Amino acid sequence: MKVFIIGVSGAVGRLLAGQLIDRGDDVLGLVRRDQQRADLSARGVDASVADLAGLTADSLASMLDGVDALVYTAGSNGGAREVTAAIDGEGVVKALEAAGLAAVHRFALVSVLPEAGRGQGLSEDEEFYFAVKKLIDVTVSESDLDWLILRPSLLVDRPGTGTVALGPAQPHDEITREDVAATLAALLHEPRIRRQILELNQGSTPIIIAVQANIR
Ligand SMILES: NC(=O)c1ccc[n+]([C@@H]2O[C@H](COP(=O)([O-])OP(=O)(O)OC[C@H]3O[C@@H](n4cnc5c(N)ncnc54)[C@H](OP(=O)(O)O)[C@@H]3O)[C@@H](O)[C@H]2O)c1
Repeated sequence: MKVFIIGVSGAVGRLLAGQLIDRGDDVLGLVRRDQQRADLSARGVDASVADLAGLTADSLASMLDGVDALVYTAGSNGGAREVTAAIDGEGVVKALEAAGLAAVHRFALVSVLPEAGRGQGLSEDEEFYFAVKKLIDVTVSESDLDWLILRPSLLVDRPGTGTVALGPAQPHDEITREDVAATLAALLHEPRIRRQILELNQGSTPIIIAVQANIR
């Protein structure tokens, strides 16, 4: 499988690239700096250099030749509103359009649990971030593509455990980035899981079993 990752230089993106390469997939992606391209090239990832905010859907589509799946794990992580709107909002719309233009049928979005910030006295920019994330889930879920939305709970950097809780609704808790990447890699390799929103926590079910349990 040939997978293009938008956000491949990020924490989840890098781990996902490693997981997919270990499975024998071809991994491509988008980075903003030449140094990131060189670092990733040494790990077997063929990255193109461009800022998503400055790309058109056409120019992004031209990078997707022969790609089977487009993964969107880029994000502002709740920064300034303009960046949130551009990366968590418009960037996803652009990627959806590019996927359509390039006939990439599978589109996976790393989103967030809508209630993640509940009761935490969020700033206005953080409230805006969660609103944009939710609305973009709506947009993706209404697309004609073979979409998949994965909503991990709080991301942590401990080593992965290989066991998760995955389903259409999960409470907000936490999950290692390594297990997010492993779950996403397994989901991408399961074509029967499509047009679903799945929420993800640390749990006690081995990832492959958790993925199979969500086949409809
Ligand atoms: N933090 C949490 O607890 C949490 C919980 C649930 C979901 N999430 C979501 O999970 C996703 C992945 O998280 P993460 O920890 O991997 O995030 P991360 O390490 O901050 O990675 C974000 C990625 O987005 C890329 N990016 C940002 N702006 C870009 C632009 N203008 N053009 C191209 N690429 C751009 C970054 O590129 P650079 O390397 O160039 O910066 C980086 O590759 C995020 O979308 C986040 O919203 C986070």
